Amino acid sequence: GMRWKGLIEHYKEYLPVTANTPSLTLNEGNTPLIYLEKMSKQLGIELYVKTEGTNPTGSFKDRGMVMAVAKAKEEGSTTIMCASTGNTSAAAAAYAARANMRCIIVIPNGKIAFGKLAQAVMYGAEIYAIEGNFDDALKMVREICNEMPITLVNSVNPYRIEGQKTAAFEVCDQLGKAPDILAIPVGNAGNITAYWKGFKEYHEKHQTGLPKMHGFEAEGAAAIVKNQVIENPETIATAIRIGNPASWKFAVNAANESGGKIDMVSDEEILHAYQLVARTEGVFAEPASCASIAGVLKDVKSGKIPQGSTVVTVLTGNGLKDPNTAIDVSSIKPVVLPNEKEAVLQHLKEVVTS
Ligand code: F0G
Repeated sequence: GMRWKGLIEHYKEYLPVTANTPSLTLNEGNTPLIYLEKMSKQLGIELYVKTEGTNPTGSFKDRGMVMAVAKAKEEGSTTIMCASTGNTSAAAAAYAARANMRCIIVIPNGKIAFGKLAQAVMYGAEIYAIEGNFDDALKMVREICNEMPITLVNSVNPYRIEGQKTAAFEVCDQLGKAPDILAIPVGNAGNITAYWKGFKEYHEKHQTGLPKMHGFEAEGAAAIVKNQVIENPETIATAIRIGNPASWKFAVNAANESGGKIDMVSDEEILHAYQLVARTEGVFAEPASCASIAGVLKDVKSGKIPQGSTVVTVLTGNGLKDPNTAIDVSSIKPVVLPNEKEAVLQHLKEVVTS
């Protein structure tokens, strides 16, 4: 029938699917590609956003996780584990619940957005918050998974990359070809690796062309840009608060092979882009996602994105993941009024005439 049945079913010919792979899905994938009419006009480009926050757990991680958990199940594993800044753990917990598996997550204490923590507890994960950052947590879970019969589902698991590459397929199908430029936030660098793999594979089969890959790190966590491990990464965009990206070399390769680049944006630029895209276009994405929008603004200004370019910007996670940042940065707050029509009317008349 016509019903969307999720990534594994839809893209099985492109994925490591066997007769024994369980048909796991939360109907992930098939996310919108939204044209940003006003921002396109203002910037002199054709600007689209791939809204990955519409996935079942609210981020792109569902694409890779459905594949990684299905393969873990197929291989007879009963337990999955990951380190996370919040989105990977939300996806892992959800698909583990779906697949009747145990899920253990390790997060940096106090440094994951509230909505993501809410998801992990609701899906029933076992949660360990360490007094360390994401890089410490990843190092720890890699070692533990080597010593115990537990499947690691961070993006160093190749099935994660396989699932995530399907987003590039969708972009090509939705646009009719690859864009001139693909702008994407970079944290642990798995997603830029996956998109580049996806674009290359789709081009080989369907001659869809190849984009230039423009990846953006947060300035306080810009290990790749600065070409050095950042011991104490800091950024408001907690999802990409990562100082030693696991797929570092693959990200550099994607940038070089495609004629693109890895660059960085400041927290100020991220927060500006975060508010701009919500207010101008009605698209609410979490701060880390908006590193890509911030990067596009910067590249249009500098001419690194030429006028007239078709640009697809990946908005990796839903804005609702991080309600605290939304409230903190906003000048608009609720005006508290009595429960009386006259009082509300009086207030409106005062503000409307001014
Ligand atoms: N955007 C969001 C919303 C993310 O959650 C992440 C990564 C990224 C971008 C960067 O993607 O790591 O593939 O370069 N989040 C991971 C996590 C680290 O644990 O949820 P990447």
